[in-house]
Amino acid sequence: MSNNKMKFDTQSIHAGGEHKNPENALNPPIFLTSTFAFENTDKVDAVMNFESDDYVYTRGNNPTLRLFENRMAELESGSGAVAFASGMAAISSVLFSYLRPGNKVLVHKTLYGSSYNVVTKVLPKYNIGHTIADLADTERLSEWVDEQTRVIYFETPSNPNLSIVDIKKVCEFARSRGIKVVIDNTFATPYFQRPLELGVDVVVHSATKYIGGHGDVVAGVAVSKDSDYITSLKFDYMCEFGGVRSPFNAWLLLRGMKTLGLRMRQHESNAIAAAQFLQGHAKVAEVFYPGLKDFPGHEVARAQMDGFGAIVSFEVKGGLEAAKRVVNNTRLFKLAVSLGDCESLVQLPAAMTHRGYDQESLKQFGLSAGMIRLSLGLEHIDDILADLDQALAQA
Ligand SMILES: Cc1ncc(COP(=O)(O)O)c(C=O)c1O
Repeated sequence: MSNNKMKFDTQSIHAGGEHKNPENALNPPIFLTSTFAFENTDKVDAVMNFESDDYVYTRGNNPTLRLFENRMAELESGSGAVAFASGMAAISSVLFSYLRPGNKVLVHKTLYGSSYNVVTKVLPKYNIGHTIADLADTERLSEWVDEQTRVIYFETPSNPNLSIVDIKKVCEFARSRGIKVVIDNTFATPYFQRPLELGVDVVVHSATKYIGGHGDVVAGVAVSKDSDYITSLKFDYMCEFGGVRSPFNAWLLLRGMKTLGLRMRQHESNAIAAAQFLQGHAKVAEVFYPGLKDFPGHEVARAQMDGFGAIVSFEVKGGLEAAKRVVNNTRLFKLAVSLGDCESLVQLPAAMTHRGYDQESLKQFGLSAGMIRLSLGLEHIDDILADLDQALAQA
Protein backbone atom coordinates (compact mmCIF):
# COMPACT_ATOMS: atom_id res chain seq x y z
CA MET A 1 0.00 0.00 0.00
CA SER A 2 1.51 3.29 -1.04
CA ASN A 3 -0.61 6.38 -1.23
CA ASN A 4 0.58 9.93 -0.63
CA LYS A 5 -2.93 10.93 0.43
CA MET A 6 -2.71 8.76 3.54
CA LYS A 7 -2.33 10.60 6.82
CA PHE A 8 0.95 10.40 8.73
CA ASP A 9 -0.35 7.92 11.34
CA THR A 10 -1.47 5.58 8.54
CA GLN A 11 1.71 6.02 6.51
CA SER A 12 3.93 5.21 9.46
CA ILE A 13 2.21 1.80 9.67
CA HIS A 14 1.58 1.03 5.99
CA ALA A 15 3.84 3.08 3.71
CA GLY A 16 6.70 1.55 1.79
CA GLY A 17 5.08 -0.70 -0.77
CA GLU A 18 3.45 -4.12 -0.84
CA HIS A 19 5.50 -6.99 0.52
CA LYS A 20 5.19 -10.63 -0.33
CA ASN A 21 5.36 -12.11 3.11
CA PRO A 22 5.69 -15.85 3.58
CA GLU A 23 2.67 -17.53 5.22
CA ASN A 24 0.75 -14.22 4.96
CA ALA A 25 2.62 -12.85 7.94
CA LEU A 26 1.10 -9.50 8.92
CA ASN A 27 4.47 -8.23 10.08
CA PRO A 28 7.36 -8.15 7.63
CA PRO A 29 9.88 -10.90 8.28
CA ILE A 30 13.47 -9.99 9.16
CA PHE A 31 15.70 -11.05 6.27
CA LEU A 32 18.76 -12.03 8.26
CA THR A 33 20.91 -12.96 5.32
CA SER A 34 24.18 -11.50 4.13
CA THR A 35 23.83 -12.73 0.54
CA PHE A 36 21.15 -13.65 -2.02
CA ALA A 37 21.23 -16.60 -4.45
CA PHE A 38 20.61 -16.05 -8.19
CA GLU A 39 18.65 -18.43 -10.45
CA ASN A 40 21.09 -17.88 -13.32
CA THR A 41 23.60 -15.46 -14.84
CA ASP A 42 20.88 -13.53 -16.75
CA LYS A 43 19.45 -12.51 -13.37
CA VAL A 44 22.95 -11.54 -12.26
CA ASP A 45 23.41 -9.32 -15.33
CA ALA A 46 19.99 -7.68 -14.87
CA VAL A 47 20.65 -6.63 -11.29
CA MET A 48 24.25 -5.58 -11.93
CA ASN A 49 23.02 -3.36 -14.82
CA PHE A 50 20.36 -1.80 -12.53
CA GLU A 51 17.63 -3.32 -14.77
CA SER A 52 16.11 -5.23 -11.87
CA ASP A 53 15.88 -4.37 -8.20
CA ASP A 54 16.66 -7.91 -7.04
CA TYR A 55 18.98 -8.29 -4.10
CA VAL A 56 22.69 -9.15 -4.22
CA TYR A 57 24.32 -8.58 -0.85
CA THR A 58 23.01 -6.92 2.31
CA ARG A 59 25.70 -4.22 2.32
CA GLY A 60 23.99 -2.95 -0.85
CA ASN A 61 20.37 -3.92 -0.24
CA ASN A 62 18.07 -6.16 1.74
CA PRO A 63 14.24 -6.41 1.83
CA THR A 64 13.97 -5.32 5.48
CA LEU A 65 16.27 -2.36 4.87
CA ARG A 66 14.40 -1.48 1.67
CA LEU A 67 11.03 -1.46 3.44
CA PHE A 68 12.46 0.88 6.08
CA GLU A 69 13.95 3.14 3.37
CA ASN A 70 10.71 3.29 1.39
CA ARG A 71 8.61 4.03 4.45
CA MET A 72 11.01 6.70 5.67
CA ALA A 73 11.09 8.30 2.18
CA GLU A 74 7.29 8.60 2.20
CA LEU A 75 7.18 10.04 5.72
CA GLU A 76 9.75 12.70 4.76
CA SER A 77 8.12 13.45 1.34
CA GLY A 78 11.22 12.17 -0.44
CA SER A 79 11.62 9.85 -3.38
CA GLY A 80 14.22 7.62 -1.76
CA ALA A 81 16.25 6.99 1.37
CA VAL A 82 19.44 5.27 2.42
CA ALA A 83 19.56 3.39 5.72
CA PHE A 84 22.81 3.73 7.65
CA ALA A 85 24.32 2.01 10.68
CA SER A 86 24.11 5.23 12.71
CA GLY A 87 23.15 8.87 12.46
CA MET A 88 26.85 9.78 12.22
CA ALA A 89 27.35 7.32 9.32
CA ALA A 90 24.51 9.11 7.49
CA ILE A 91 25.80 12.62 8.29
CA SER A 92 29.46 11.97 7.42
CA SER A 93 28.57 10.07 4.22
CA VAL A 94 26.29 12.85 2.99
CA LEU A 95 28.93 15.51 3.72
CA PHE A 96 31.63 13.47 1.95
CA SER A 97 29.27 12.90 -1.00
CA TYR A 98 28.97 16.65 -1.67
CA LEU A 99 32.36 18.04 -0.60
CA ARG A 100 35.70 17.91 -2.42
CA PRO A 101 39.16 19.16 -1.39
CA GLY A 102 39.16 22.95 -1.52
CA ASN A 103 35.40 23.21 -0.83
CA LYS A 104 33.78 24.68 2.28
CA VAL A 105 30.72 23.90 4.36
CA LEU A 106 28.73 26.59 6.20
CA VAL A 107 27.30 25.27 9.49
CA HIS A 108 25.08 26.62 12.24
CA LYS A 109 26.88 27.60 15.43
CA THR A 110 25.15 24.92 17.49
CA LEU A 111 25.50 21.35 16.28
CA TYR A 112 25.46 17.92 17.90
CA GLY A 113 28.98 17.26 19.27
CA SER A 114 30.08 14.53 16.83
CA SER A 115 28.73 16.48 13.83
CA TYR A 116 30.75 19.46 15.04
CA ASN A 117 33.81 17.19 15.30
CA VAL A 118 33.35 15.89 11.73
CA VAL A 119 33.15 19.46 10.41
CA THR A 120 35.96 20.97 12.50
CA LYS A 121 38.36 18.00 12.90
CA VAL A 122 37.78 15.36 10.19
CA LEU A 123 36.91 17.36 7.06
CA PRO A 124 39.93 19.72 7.43
CA LYS A 125 42.22 16.66 7.06
CA TYR A 126 40.84 16.42 3.50
CA ASN A 127 41.35 20.14 2.89
CA ILE A 128 37.63 20.88 3.33
CA GLY A 129 37.09 24.15 5.19
CA HIS A 130 34.16 25.41 7.25
CA THR A 131 32.47 28.59 8.38
CA ILE A 132 30.53 28.58 11.64
CA ALA A 133 27.82 31.22 11.94
CA ASP A 134 24.47 32.00 13.50
CA LEU A 135 22.20 30.77 10.71
CA ALA A 136 19.17 32.04 12.63
CA ASP A 137 20.28 35.43 11.27
CA THR A 138 19.37 34.68 7.64
CA GLU A 139 19.90 38.32 6.59
CA ARG A 140 23.66 37.77 6.87
CA LEU A 141 23.95 34.52 4.85
CA SER A 142 25.76 36.15 1.93
CA GLU A 143 28.55 37.29 4.30
CA TRP A 144 29.37 33.69 5.20
CA VAL A 145 29.68 32.01 1.82
CA ASP A 146 32.08 32.29 -1.07
CA GLU A 147 32.74 30.47 -4.35
CA GLN A 148 34.09 27.45 -2.44
CA THR A 149 30.98 26.95 -0.26
CA ARG A 150 29.17 23.84 -1.54
CA VAL A 151 26.98 22.86 1.43
CA ILE A 152 24.98 24.53 4.21
CA TYR A 153 24.42 22.11 7.12
CA PHE A 154 22.35 22.65 10.25
CA GLU A 155 19.92 21.25 12.79
CA THR A 156 16.63 22.97 13.58
CA PRO A 157 15.70 22.78 16.40
CA SER A 158 19.40 22.52 17.24
CA ASN A 159 21.01 20.32 19.85
CA PRO A 160 21.11 21.29 22.71
CA ASN A 161 19.72 24.86 22.86
CA LEU A 162 16.81 24.38 20.42
CA SER A 163 17.74 27.37 18.24
CA ILE A 164 15.53 27.68 15.17
CA VAL A 165 16.75 28.32 11.62
CA ASP A 166 14.35 29.50 8.91
CA ILE A 167 14.58 26.57 6.48
CA LYS A 168 12.83 28.24 3.53
CA LYS A 169 15.00 31.35 3.70
CA VAL A 170 18.22 29.31 3.83
CA CYS A 171 17.05 27.19 0.87
CA GLU A 172 16.08 30.21 -1.25
CA PHE A 173 19.48 31.76 -0.64
CA ALA A 174 21.34 28.49 -1.25
CA ARG A 175 19.51 27.80 -4.50
CA SER A 176 20.51 31.22 -5.85
CA ARG A 177 24.17 30.29 -5.22
CA GLY A 178 24.06 26.64 -6.34
CA ILE A 179 24.73 25.46 -2.77
CA LYS A 180 23.23 22.22 -1.37
CA VAL A 181 21.28 22.31 1.90
CA VAL A 182 21.51 19.36 4.29
CA ILE A 183 19.47 19.33 7.50
CA ASP A 184 19.48 17.09 10.56
CA ASN A 185 15.79 16.54 11.37
CA THR A 186 16.37 14.31 14.39
CA PHE A 187 14.70 16.55 16.99
CA ALA A 188 11.56 17.33 14.98
CA THR A 189 11.04 14.01 13.12
CA PRO A 190 8.90 14.10 9.95
CA TYR A 191 5.84 14.16 12.22
CA PHE A 192 6.58 17.77 13.16
CA GLN A 193 8.73 18.99 10.24
CA ARG A 194 9.26 17.91 6.61
CA PRO A 195 12.23 19.93 5.34
CA LEU A 196 12.22 18.45 1.81
CA GLU A 197 8.85 20.19 1.29
CA LEU A 198 10.59 23.48 2.17
CA GLY A 199 13.40 23.08 -0.38
CA VAL A 200 16.10 21.14 1.50
CA ASP A 201 18.22 18.76 -0.63
CA VAL A 202 18.91 16.03 1.93
CA VAL A 203 17.41 15.25 5.33
CA VAL A 204 19.48 13.17 7.76
CA HIS A 205 18.42 11.57 11.03
CA SER A 206 19.78 9.83 14.00
CA ALA A 207 17.06 7.14 13.78
CA THR A 208 18.44 6.00 17.13
CA LYS A 209 16.16 8.63 18.65
CA TYR A 210 12.43 9.12 17.97
CA ILE A 211 12.26 7.04 14.77
CA GLY A 212 13.14 3.91 16.76
CA GLY A 213 11.74 5.41 19.93
CA HIS A 214 12.62 2.66 22.38
CA GLY A 215 16.32 3.18 23.03
CA ASP A 216 17.25 -0.28 21.74
CA VAL A 217 18.94 0.48 18.44
CA VAL A 218 21.59 2.76 16.91
CA ALA A 219 20.73 3.75 13.33
CA GLY A 220 20.68 6.57 10.78
CA VAL A 221 19.03 7.51 7.52
CA ALA A 222 19.32 10.06 4.71
CA VAL A 223 16.33 11.05 2.54
CA SER A 224 16.10 13.09 -0.65
CA LYS A 225 13.70 13.92 -3.49
CA ASP A 226 16.52 13.28 -5.99
CA SER A 227 16.55 9.56 -6.76
CA ASP A 228 19.82 9.76 -8.73
CA TYR A 229 21.47 11.27 -5.67
CA ILE A 230 20.03 8.52 -3.45
CA THR A 231 21.42 5.83 -5.80
CA SER A 232 24.83 7.46 -5.72
CA LEU A 233 24.75 7.93 -1.92
CA LYS A 234 23.81 4.28 -1.50
CA PHE A 235 26.25 2.66 -3.89
CA ASP A 236 29.17 5.13 -3.96
CA TYR A 237 29.19 6.01 -0.24
CA MET A 238 27.10 3.83 2.12
CA CYS A 239 28.05 0.66 0.30
CA GLU A 240 31.73 1.60 -0.15
CA PHE A 241 32.33 3.17 3.27
CA GLY A 242 30.39 0.18 4.56
CA GLY A 243 28.21 1.88 7.19
CA VAL A 244 25.36 -0.56 6.54
CA ARG A 245 22.68 -1.24 9.13
CA SER A 246 21.73 -4.72 10.28
CA PRO A 247 18.32 -5.95 8.97
CA PHE A 248 17.43 -6.76 12.56
CA ASN A 249 17.86 -3.11 13.51
CA ALA A 250 15.80 -2.05 10.48
CA TRP A 251 13.02 -4.32 11.70
CA LEU A 252 13.15 -2.78 15.19
CA LEU A 253 12.85 0.66 13.59
CA LEU A 254 9.87 -0.43 11.47
CA ARG A 255 8.19 -1.62 14.64
CA GLY A 256 8.95 1.65 16.42
CA MET A 257 7.78 3.77 13.51
CA LYS A 258 4.25 2.37 13.71
CA THR A 259 3.69 4.53 16.79
CA LEU A 260 5.79 7.54 15.77
CA GLY A 261 2.89 10.02 15.57
CA LEU A 262 1.27 8.69 18.72
CA ARG A 263 4.53 8.91 20.64
CA MET A 264 5.45 12.38 19.32
CA ARG A 265 2.10 13.78 20.45
CA GLN A 266 2.61 12.47 23.98
CA HIS A 267 6.32 13.42 24.11
CA GLU A 268 5.39 16.95 23.05
CA SER A 269 2.51 17.32 25.44
CA ASN A 270 4.87 16.36 28.30
CA ALA A 271 7.50 18.79 26.98
CA ILE A 272 5.08 21.73 26.87
CA ALA A 273 3.99 21.07 30.44
CA ALA A 274 7.60 20.68 31.62
CA ALA A 275 8.73 23.87 29.85
CA GLN A 276 5.90 25.86 31.43
CA PHE A 277 6.62 24.37 34.84
CA LEU A 278 10.33 25.25 34.55
CA GLN A 279 9.57 28.76 33.33
CA GLY A 280 7.54 29.43 36.46
CA HIS A 281 10.08 27.89 38.86
CA ALA A 282 12.00 30.20 41.22
CA LYS A 283 15.30 28.30 40.83
CA VAL A 284 15.31 28.34 37.03
CA ALA A 285 17.17 31.14 35.23
CA GLU A 286 16.27 30.43 31.58
CA VAL A 287 14.26 27.89 29.58
CA PHE A 288 15.00 26.92 25.97
CA TYR A 289 11.95 25.51 24.18
CA PRO A 290 10.57 26.66 20.80
CA GLY A 291 7.00 26.18 22.02
CA LEU A 292 7.36 29.04 24.51
CA LYS A 293 5.92 32.26 23.07
CA ASP A 294 8.88 34.38 24.19
CA PHE A 295 11.51 31.98 22.78
CA PRO A 296 13.46 33.78 20.00
CA GLY A 297 12.66 31.23 17.26
CA HIS A 298 9.03 30.68 18.25
CA GLU A 299 7.36 32.39 15.27
CA VAL A 300 9.63 30.71 12.69
CA ALA A 301 9.09 27.34 14.40
CA ARG A 302 5.33 27.85 14.32
CA ALA A 303 5.47 28.60 10.61
CA GLN A 304 7.67 25.69 9.54
CA MET A 305 6.77 22.99 12.10
CA ASP A 306 3.54 21.19 13.03
CA GLY A 307 4.66 21.01 16.67
CA PHE A 308 7.66 21.93 18.79
CA GLY A 309 9.15 18.58 19.76
CA ALA A 310 10.07 17.23 23.15
CA ILE A 311 13.55 18.45 24.06
CA VAL A 312 13.65 21.18 26.69
CA SER A 313 16.88 22.74 27.93
CA PHE A 314 17.26 25.09 30.89
CA GLU A 315 19.72 26.80 33.18
CA VAL A 316 19.36 26.98 36.93
CA LYS A 317 20.41 29.86 39.12
CA GLY A 318 23.77 28.98 40.66
CA GLY A 319 25.50 27.72 37.50
CA LEU A 320 27.32 24.43 37.05
CA GLU A 321 27.41 23.33 40.69
CA ALA A 322 23.66 23.85 41.10
CA ALA A 323 23.06 22.09 37.75
CA LYS A 324 25.09 19.08 38.90
CA ARG A 325 22.99 18.86 42.06
CA VAL A 326 19.83 18.80 39.91
CA VAL A 327 20.98 16.06 37.50
CA ASN A 328 22.47 14.01 40.35
CA ASN A 329 19.16 14.04 42.18
CA THR A 330 16.56 13.17 39.55
CA ARG A 331 14.99 9.75 40.06
CA LEU A 332 12.67 9.21 37.10
CA PHE A 333 14.94 11.14 34.69
CA LYS A 334 18.02 9.03 34.01
CA LEU A 335 21.39 10.77 33.62
CA ALA A 336 22.24 9.68 30.07
CA VAL A 337 23.15 10.90 26.59
CA SER A 338 20.71 10.23 23.73
CA LEU A 339 17.07 11.26 23.53
CA GLY A 340 13.72 10.26 22.11
CA ASP A 341 13.27 7.17 24.28
CA CYS A 342 10.15 6.25 26.29
CA GLU A 343 12.20 7.00 29.42
CA SER A 344 12.82 10.64 30.36
CA LEU A 345 16.53 11.49 30.18
CA VAL A 346 18.60 14.34 31.58
CA GLN A 347 22.15 15.40 30.79
CA LEU A 348 24.68 18.24 30.89
CA PRO A 349 25.55 18.87 27.20
CA ALA A 350 28.85 20.70 27.88
CA ALA A 351 30.13 17.74 29.89
CA MET A 352 28.52 14.98 27.83
CA THR A 353 27.14 15.20 24.25
CA HIS A 354 28.99 18.44 23.42
CA ARG A 355 32.29 17.74 25.16
CA GLY A 356 34.11 18.08 21.78
CA TYR A 357 33.63 21.86 21.85
CA ASP A 358 36.52 23.70 23.50
CA GLN A 359 35.63 26.09 26.35
CA GLU A 360 36.05 29.18 24.16
CA SER A 361 33.66 27.83 21.49
CA LEU A 362 31.12 26.79 24.10
CA LYS A 363 31.00 30.38 25.33
CA GLN A 364 30.93 31.84 21.83
CA PHE A 365 28.07 29.58 20.77
CA GLY A 366 26.01 30.31 23.86
CA LEU A 367 26.31 26.89 25.52
CA SER A 368 26.87 27.41 29.24
CA ALA A 369 28.61 24.72 31.31
CA GLY A 370 25.51 24.47 33.48
CA MET A 371 22.92 24.04 30.73
CA ILE A 372 20.69 21.02 31.44
CA ARG A 373 19.00 19.17 28.56
CA LEU A 374 15.84 17.13 29.12
CA SER A 375 14.42 14.54 26.76
CA LEU A 376 10.81 14.23 27.85
CA GLY A 377 9.71 10.61 27.83
CA LEU A 378 6.29 9.04 27.85
CA GLU A 379 5.77 8.71 31.59
CA HIS A 380 2.75 10.36 33.22
CA ILE A 381 3.20 14.13 33.39
CA ASP A 382 2.42 14.23 37.14
CA ASP A 383 5.40 11.95 37.84
CA ILE A 384 7.63 13.94 35.49
CA LEU A 385 6.81 17.26 37.15
CA ALA A 386 7.13 15.77 40.65
CA ASP A 387 10.62 14.49 39.80
CA LEU A 388 11.72 17.85 38.38
CA ASP A 389 10.32 19.61 41.42
CA GLN A 390 12.15 17.43 43.96
CA ALA A 391 15.43 17.60 41.97
CA LEU A 392 15.21 21.39 41.67
CA ALA A 393 14.73 21.59 45.41
CA GLN A 394 18.33 20.30 45.69
CA ALA A 395 19.70 23.06 43.43
C1 LIG B 1 20.86 15.82 16.58
C2 LIG B 1 21.70 14.58 16.47
N1 LIG B 1 22.22 14.26 15.27
C3 LIG B 1 23.00 13.16 15.12
C4 LIG B 1 23.30 12.34 16.18
C5 LIG B 1 24.18 11.14 15.96
O1 LIG B 1 23.40 10.00 15.81
P1 LIG B 1 23.91 8.51 16.15
O2 LIG B 1 24.25 8.48 17.60
O3 LIG B 1 22.74 7.66 15.77
O4 LIG B 1 25.11 8.27 15.31
C6 LIG B 1 22.78 12.65 17.44
C7 LIG B 1 23.11 11.77 18.59
O5 LIG B 1 22.85 12.09 19.72
C8 LIG B 1 21.98 13.80 17.58
O6 LIG B 1 21.47 14.16 18.78
